[in-house]
Amino acid sequence: MVKIPPFDVEQWMDKYETTPGVLNIAETCCSSISVDALQRLNKRQDAPPPVDFSRPMTYGAILGSAELRQNIASQYDSAGSSGEVHPDSVIVTQGAIAANHLVFYSLVGPGDHVVCVFPTYQQLYAVPESLGAEVSLWELKAEDGFVPDVKALRGLIKSNTKMIVINNPNNPTGATIPTETLKQIIEVAREKGIIVFADEVYRPLYHSLDADKIPPSALSLGYEKVVVTSSMSKAWALAGIRVGWIASQDPSIIEKVALVRDYTTISVSQIDDQVARYALSPDVRPQLIARNLELSKKNLALVDQFIQGHQEVVSWVKPTAGTTAFVQFKKNGKPVDDEKFCLDVLEKTKVMFLPGSKCFGHGKGFQGYVRIGYVQETGVLQEALEQLSAYVKENLA
Ligand SMILES: Cc1ncc(COP(=O)(O)O)c(C=O)c1O
Repeated sequence: MVKIPPFDVEQWMDKYETTPGVLNIAETCCSSISVDALQRLNKRQDAPPPVDFSRPMTYGAILGSAELRQNIASQYDSAGSSGEVHPDSVIVTQGAIAANHLVFYSLVGPGDHVVCVFPTYQQLYAVPESLGAEVSLWELKAEDGFVPDVKALRGLIKSNTKMIVINNPNNPTGATIPTETLKQIIEVAREKGIIVFADEVYRPLYHSLDADKIPPSALSLGYEKVVVTSSMSKAWALAGIRVGWIASQDPSIIEKVALVRDYTTISVSQIDDQVARYALSPDVRPQLIARNLELSKKNLALVDQFIQGHQEVVSWVKPTAGTTAFVQFKKNGKPVDDEKFCLDVLEKTKVMFLPGSKCFGHGKGFQGYVRIGYVQETGVLQEALEQLSAYVKENLA
């Protein structure tokens, strides 16, 4: 039986998100879109609907439909001669959570060493550890803007380091790894033949960066031993269709993953595959990402206003991408007990967010931090911030 600790974020969400009257600002998806609304975004209003209900519900194409894999591949540039990523470099999974699991399950085990950025989504360090690998946490610091320090990475590398795990944009900080840093990480990996695994589930939601500062996918940096994962859940606002993917330009990585995947996934839902390929089609994709970028910018400005209004007790590194902000609350100059704080805020105001040290520090830091997911309906965020503002004045000032 596998030995793995509880997944603190998921447990907290499950326990509190159904609190009656909850003002949920813990959610990390861009405000989820209906299939009807998706159709209204199509620039060809005479286009066929997303789902063909006359189709027999077979398993379908095992690794994902050719059209979906093409629409996914077209989101990436390749450093190779064609400039394109081939659809065969893409494998479809049930969400990024299954994609991430499969990457570890296929590529690491006992005797391997894995370096993983921290804080990040717990799955990215808990799963390799559960598979018998030794994991070193590569700490991201607020004073560095939560950008990983490549010098520190060099100090963590061992002779048996098999994989470096990054998360760009990062959950929970909303920070971006700049292009230059990405290139340096690749260089460290290349020197030792280490696999770079990038969870890019919040890409391309770069809402607060000038175009020339938006980093490419790790897949596009000319190093074959890169594997990336992503999904429809966050930047594409379609968590309910449970479609994610793994992409790598190393055929041996794709082969290994496909081989192992036969034991975990036959194919994904054929309804989901159709909706995903529709959402990522050239007629829909630009409008969908524009909707989500606009909402991100608008809502981030509201959180910024809240932070500015309470600077003596609240601080952050302002996010540049993704849907989450990592915000520290203090009382009398000391970080609050974030777990107690979240519970008290929930009880008194119905505002729900996540305790940082519990869900992302696991006793190893990030005291006083909470993770806010701010790209939901603006009205919910507005009401939650008003409530929170009153709470902070009453309890922390
Ligand atoms: C960094 C990261 N990776 C993966 C996932 C899983 O996403 P999904 O399975 O919905 O695609 C999440 C969800 O919160 C996440 O934050």
